[in-house]
Amino acid sequence: MANSLKERNILWILVTVFYFLPNMSSGQIVYSVLEEASPETTVGNIVKDLNLNLQELENRGFQIASGPNKRYFDVNMKTGILQIKDKVEREELCGRSLRCTLELEAIVNMPLNMYRFEVNVLDINDNSPTFHSSSLQLNVSEAAFIGERYALPNAFDADVGSNSVKSYKLSPNEHFSLDVQSGGEQSVSAELVLQKALDREKQPVIQLTLTAVDGGKPPRSGEINIIVNIIDVNDNIPVFTKSLYKARIPENASTGTSVITVNARDADVGLNGEIAYSFIKHVNNDRNIESFAINKISGEITVHGKLDHESNNAIEIRVQARDKGSTPRVAHCKVLVEILDVNDNIPEISVTSLVNVVKEGSPKGTMVGLITVKDDDSGENGSVKLKITEPLPFLLQNTYKNKYSLVVDGPLDRESQSEYNVTITATDEGTPPLSSTSVITVHVSDVNDNAPRFPEPVINVYVKENSQIGAVIHTVSAFDPDVGDNARITYSLLESSKSGPVTSMININSDSGDINSLQSFNYEDTKTFEFKVQATDSGVPPLSSNVTVNVFFLSLISLIPVALLRCNGSPGCFDSGLQVICIVGSGVSHLPLDNTP
Ligand SMILES: *[C@@H]1O[C@H](CO)[C@@H](O)[C@H](O)[C@H]1NC(C)=O
Ligand SMILES: *[C@@H]1O[C@H](CO)[C@@H](O)[C@H](O)[C@H]1NC(C)=O
Ligand SMILES: *[C@@H]1O[C@H](CO)[C@@H](O)[C@H](O)[C@H]1NC(C)=O
Ligand SMILES: *[C@@H]1O[C@H](CO)[C@@H](O)[C@H](O)[C@H]1NC(C)=O
Ligand SMILES: *[C@@H]1O[C@H](CO)[C@@H](O)[C@H](O)[C@H]1NC(C)=O
Repeated sequence: MANSLKERNILWILVTVFYFLPNMSSGQIVYSVLEEASPETTVGNIVKDLNLNLQELENRGFQIASGPNKRYFDVNMKTGILQIKDKVEREELCGRSLRCTLELEAIVNMPLNMYRFEVNVLDINDNSPTFHSSSLQLNVSEAAFIGERYALPNAFDADVGSNSVKSYKLSPNEHFSLDVQSGGEQSVSAELVLQKALDREKQPVIQLTLTAVDGGKPPRSGEINIIVNIIDVNDNIPVFTKSLYKARIPENASTGTSVITVNARDADVGLNGEIAYSFIKHVNNDRNIESFAINKISGEITVHGKLDHESNNAIEIRVQARDKGSTPRVAHCKVLVEILDVNDNIPEISVTSLVNVVKEGSPKGTMVGLITVKDDDSGENGSVKLKITEPLPFLLQNTYKNKYSLVVDGPLDRESQSEYNVTITATDEGTPPLSSTSVITVHVSDVNDNAPRFPEPVINVYVKENSQIGAVIHTVSAFDPDVGDNARITYSLLESSKSGPVTSMININSDSGDINSLQSFNYEDTKTFEFKVQATDSGVPPLSSNVTVNVFFLSLISLIPVALLRCNGSPGCFDSGLQVICIVGSGVSHLPLDNTP
């Protein structure tokens, strides 16, 4: 302090001498001296003031009485001047008290006398205001209201009176002003007053400098850095990077496959800025959302269940981001997930209507069945081609979209094939394609397209003369390849013009074809006769055919046993001269001579 004074090279001393009372010996002499005055600085002419004779001083042993303050002062015996011997630090002696008075006594002998005098040590501005630390941290909520006040620390100045702290100044800033309150000389304090709303997100820390200035001339000052930390308030809503996210995923994506990652940011810090993601569930879309999961920290959406393009080709998910502030703030976004088709559906063939039975001989184009094919996949994966696997007299006609008719495309003959197994294959155009087959059994129904047929056009019958009346002389049999009524044959006799009426001679069983004789024939009267038998089926209309039957009578007498010669000794065989006749039971068969073994 003293040094700085010296440096300035301004040493001005004010000496004021007060004379209060006339009785000098009672020590009413008061001097004033500035603290820090250098040694030999004159305090006052004490000898003169005590009315002493300068010449007597040494003889009378003038001195300052010993005491705590003696060390500071000295009397020049030649001049009688009281001067500084040792620097007086006012602050050391008197601290903060406004008055700093040193009481001293001077003594002379012959006669012994004691004089009291006082030296007022006057303060000089040798101390700057100081703060107890170089910086101060202040926490202020960003939600603080304008006008809110924050107490600031006082600066300390060891000087007193006008040399002590007189005012404060604040560095220029846009948010705070300073309110300085003065409660008398010794107590000047300051408060920060918020002038403009704070926003931690714009400026998280405000650096201020508070300067304390004392009232000295020139004034001295001291500073403190005020670091205002703006404390976060949950005043920011999370913000998604997009309001609508779009993703595409194949329907066969397995659980855990990443779909998309949503991202929201919150400008606040700490829990106020920490985000948790979740799905917003509404009753109507709950089930779709169950196929997905969201990581609440990362915002990654993954597949969590089965997806099906066919039942749902796009799913809308609503996601919320919620911060963890004590009153959380929430933001929403939408995620549209397109479920892409995969060729996972096999074409399905269904026979919507089947005639099942088609008449043989039906013309080309006759419809046999209606077929619908279905493939739930989309695009080429669901586009189906239908075809008959093997070449058959049938054809598939595409009638409308996925509807086909199975129609006749060739001759159908029940007698050669009465049933067709039509194998139909449906194949989609996916890569790789999927296919399925279906077998349709088509029955070909009978049409009366065949007449009964006799094995031979002419039948020769040999009958022994005088055979029994009613005996079956022959049984005719025709075959009809049709079925049912179309093959049910009845036999009837047709008159032959050559032989006249035969109905008196023979009779035919219409069902069995048995021909009975109605009379006994005599070889001598009738050698042969002829008739026709007609076989008629029961179809609508009926078809028929006929056979000619020649009956030959054999004379028993003329039957020469030639068995030994021609019949290898068979006892029932005879040679009629034309043929060998063998009689077996009541029937007769014949062998032409040429064929005789
Ligand atoms: C300011 O807040 C921080 C935490 O935000 C805390 O550690 C510090 O102690 C606070 N300081 C004061 C002076 O309140
Ligand atoms: C999904 O289907 C595609 C095409 O059929 C196939 O290549 C892929 O391996 C399948 N993925 C899964 C997970 O099954
Ligand atoms: C059909 O499925 C395949 C995979 O099997 C897929 O790559 C393709 O995109 C699908 N086509 C359509 C039109 O969806
Ligand atoms: C058609 O299929 C059925 C059953 O598989 C079989 O019994 C029948 O013999 C088949 N018919 C033809 C003409 O192949
Ligand atoms: C008998 O059949 C022949 C040929 O099969 C035919 O020409 C003839 O008209 C038929 N006779 C009668 C009476 O139906």
